[in-house]
Amino acid sequence: MELVLLGAPGAGKGTQAKLITEAYRLLHLSTGDVLRRNVADGTPLGLEAKKYMDGGQYVPDDLINDLVADQMERPEAKGGVAFDGYPRTLNQAEKLDAMLGKKCRPIDVAINLEVDEEALVVRLAGRRVCGGCGAPYHLKSMPPLRPDVCDACGSPLIQRPDDREETIRTRMEVYRRQTEPLLDYYAKQRKLRTVDASEGIEKTFERVQALLGEAG
Ligand code: AP5
Repeated sequence: MELVLLGAPGAGKGTQAKLITEAYRLLHLSTGDVLRRNVADGTPLGLEAKKYMDGGQYVPDDLINDLVADQMERPEAKGGVAFDGYPRTLNQAEKLDAMLGKKCRPIDVAINLEVDEEALVVRLAGRRVCGGCGAPYHLKSMPPLRPDVCDACGSPLIQRPDDREETIRTRMEVYRRQTEPLLDYYAKQRKLRTVDASEGIEKTFERVQALLGEAG
C-alpha cells in the first residue's frame, strides 16, 4: 500500500502515520523528520533547509524531491510507504506520481485529516517532541508518563522552533496557498478521502482504519 497523509500543520499526520505504519507494516516517510535530522546533524541539506523551516516556509521542491527519491531506495520502502508531509506542492505531487509510476506502485489513497484552524494552533502550541526518537506528545491530550521525558526512549522532550505562535500562523498561510490545491489533485484521481480528525487520537485512528479497510 502507498498512502499519502495530507492536512494542515498539527492536523495529526505524524501521529496517525506512526499508528498506521505500526498496524500495516509500512515505512513511515516524514520529510519533516528527515529534514530535522539533517538540521541536527548539521549536513549541507540541513543547513539549507533550516533557513526555510524556522520561518515556517517550505524547503525548495528540488531538495525535497531528491530527499524522497533517496529514501525510496531504502529496502524498507519496498513493502509500501506512508508519506507524511509529502507531497506539499503540485510539483512534488507530480514528481511522486512519476517516481511511483516507474516502480508500478501508484498511490492507493490520499487521506486528508481535517481540523478547525484555531484547534490546530492550540495543538501545536502544546506539542512537545522527543529529542531522541521524535515521538510526538501534547501537554494536555497526550502527556508523557514523566514530565518532559519520552516514554519510549527516555530522552528529554523539546518544543520545535516552528511551534511559536507567529510561525504557526505563517505555516497555516503557506499550507492554504501551496498545499490545499493538492486536495483537488487527488480528488480528480478519485483517491482523496477526508477524515474528521478533530476528536481524540484514537477516535481519529478508528476512522482512518475504517477507511483503509474500504480502500484495501
Ligand atoms: P512537518 O514536520 O511535516 O510539519 P507540519 O506539516 O507543519 O506538520 P506537523 O508535524 O506540525 O503536524 P502533524 O500534522 O504531523 O501533527 P502531529 O501528529 O505532530 O514539516 C516541518 C517543516 O519542514 C515545514 O514547515 C517545511 O519547512 C519543511 N518541510 C517538510 N516537508 C516538506 C515538503 N514536502 N516540502 C517543503 N518543505 C517541507 O500532531 C500535532 C500535535 O497534536 C501533537 O502534540 C499531537 O500529540 C497532537 N494531536 C495529534 N492528533 C490529535 C488528535 N486527534 N486530538 C488531539 N491532539 C492530537
